[in-house]
Amino acid sequence: MQDSEIVAQVDDTPIARAAQAAVQVAGRAGEGLPRPATTRVMVVANQKGGVGKTTTTVNLAASLAMHGLRVLVIDLDPQGNASTALGIDHHAEVPSIYDVLVEGRPLADVVQPVVDVEGLFCCPATIDLAGAEIELVSLVARESRLQRAIAAYEQPLDYVLIDCPPSLGLLTVNALVAGQEVLIPIQCEYYALEGLGQLLRNVELVRAHLNPVLHVSTILLTMYDARTRLAAQVAEEVRTHFEQEVLRTAIPRSVRISEAPSYGQTVLTYDPGSSGALSYLEAARELAVRGAAGTVGQQRTGSGRHAAPTAEHGSTMEDNR
Ligand SMILES: Nc1ncnc2c1ncn2[C@@H]1O[C@H](COP(=O)(O)OP(=O)(O)OP(=O)(O)O)[C@@H](O)[C@H]1O
Ligand SMILES: [Mg+2]
Repeated sequence: MQDSEIVAQVDDTPIARAAQAAVQVAGRAGEGLPRPATTRVMVVANQKGGVGKTTTTVNLAASLAMHGLRVLVIDLDPQGNASTALGIDHHAEVPSIYDVLVEGRPLADVVQPVVDVEGLFCCPATIDLAGAEIELVSLVARESRLQRAIAAYEQPLDYVLIDCPPSLGLLTVNALVAGQEVLIPIQCEYYALEGLGQLLRNVELVRAHLNPVLHVSTILLTMYDARTRLAAQVAEEVRTHFEQEVLRTAIPRSVRISEAPSYGQTVLTYDPGSSGALSYLEAARELAVRGAAGTVGQQRTGSGRHAAPTAEHGSTMEDNR
């Protein structure tokens, strides 16, 4: 056997491929991404549960930070999943987003740096936040408390990513008032678009009454399984309806992505060479480049632009009227 053949065979083992990918990630991580002119505040929302909001928030945030940007994740879900995934302590006594929203405490008091990822910060959520939906009702400026807190935060930031709970209550409204952009993760599964119309109508309402700059800038297809026809169908349908907003990169279904949170890590540090890590890095690159190029849909604010798609395939669409 020739030496070159041996090398070719060795290079083709799974470990070698992972190592190569890891090197590629490390190389890319040093490259840097365009820094937005002003802080981009992105609301990661979809009231449908388990579609990949938290996974997307933490992995995009880590990807952006690993490219040298300063990123704050705000965990706005009482489940505290984003805090867990970033290895941030969030037991009941930890100062958290609850203190910010309900007690009016400065955001800077509760933000913690994420170990292992320079430039990444997290405002944790504790179980206290479960009561906030109700407590907020009687407070002054109940819809804009998060917006005020972010505006008063003095540390320089390139991105703020807000991980919303799977509901459209006052917590999500606070996020929509605070952000400029909405990022909607859509799971490439049966009933993927269920409830999307309702979310889009909420975005329209908040834009009309509380936050004129708000717009859906980004849609990310998650848990894409290339082996199934259904995933391809859902992806095609979403791309047809949201041609401008859908990122080219889809996130594949990946065991590594789902394992990472149990180690208090993002997939970027847990397994940097995995397909999941690479896909989030690529999605972050697309997001940053589109933002820098001004192609994030801000100009398209005509009402009804994001009308709920009509049921084409009964399998995945829901008529939410
Ligand atoms: N690309 C992926 N491949 C495999 N598993 C994934 C992927 N993305 C997310 N998951 C898993 O799917 C589950 C739901 O993901 P995640 O918690 O991010 O969704 P969510 O929308 O934040 O949920 P919730 O509505 O409860 O807040 C988690 O167990 C997560 O680990
Ligand atoms: Mg979540």
